[in-house]
Amino acid sequence: MFKSSWLPLAPALGEVLLLSKASNAKRRQLVVGNWKMNGSLNENAGLLAKIAAGWHGAHNADVVICPPFPYLMHTQNALLGSAVVLGAQTVNEHAKGAYTGEVSASMLADLDCKFVIIGHNERRRMQHESDLQVAQKFEAVQKAGLTPILCVGESLEDREQGKHLETISRQLNIVFAHTGKDVFDNAVLAYEPVWAVGTGKTATPEQAEEVHKFMRSQLGVLADSIRILYGGSVKAHNARQLFALADIDGALLGGASLDADEFLAICKAAE
Ligand code: 13P
Repeated sequence: MFKSSWLPLAPALGEVLLLSKASNAKRRQLVVGNWKMNGSLNENAGLLAKIAAGWHGAHNADVVICPPFPYLMHTQNALLGSAVVLGAQTVNEHAKGAYTGEVSASMLADLDCKFVIIGHNERRRMQHESDLQVAQKFEAVQKAGLTPILCVGESLEDREQGKHLETISRQLNIVFAHTGKDVFDNAVLAYEPVWAVGTGKTATPEQAEEVHKFMRSQLGVLADSIRILYGGSVKAHNARQLFALADIDGALLGGASLDADEFLAICKAAE
């Protein structure tokens, strides 16, 4: 009943590897709007109508919107027949049970969510989600047949002390240790430097590319096929420059996803 017209268009891993070898083509781009705790039924209806009318799909880019939980069904209905895909902002790591206020991955699958953001720095910091919990959530999302978008990123302090790659390595390794690396063929990574989120400061192309390249190098045989998004004050005016970088495959947007024109301009920059 809630099925959208969206079909996963990403080529299989083997095809991607062939593609990148043959033509050095970039991976399929992905733009994800994380609405965080914003919106109302009224505001969402206007925003979604504009986005659904303005994004017609692209052969090389996917667009996902992650509204707050109470609006998932309304968003799903508003996006029916459009090329925009539904995602969620977090999930509980358990399958079911006495976890008041929590939502399981199978519940998100019931509502036709395709992607789930895992380990966002706001949840790591404000909800005290541990690295291990993030790994368990990652596993729960995959078990339910959805695609986790695993966020990693360093604090300003880590960056200033030159420890950014160490932090990112720790955040990735705990998931690798929990699930193995081979399951990353159904995963997306996102680099979100904490100091760039919601601050108006964006990582420089050199800073972003250094980390994306490092993250890719940790993925072994999946290095060439995994999509790695950048998040942190991406706007229409800086998106094109970021998307042009070899190891950036799209963006995870906060503020810019709440404005239809800004959001659509970024989606078009990813095409
Ligand atoms: P901003 O785009 O508002 O900096 O937020 C980024 C983010 O946290 C997306 O998940």
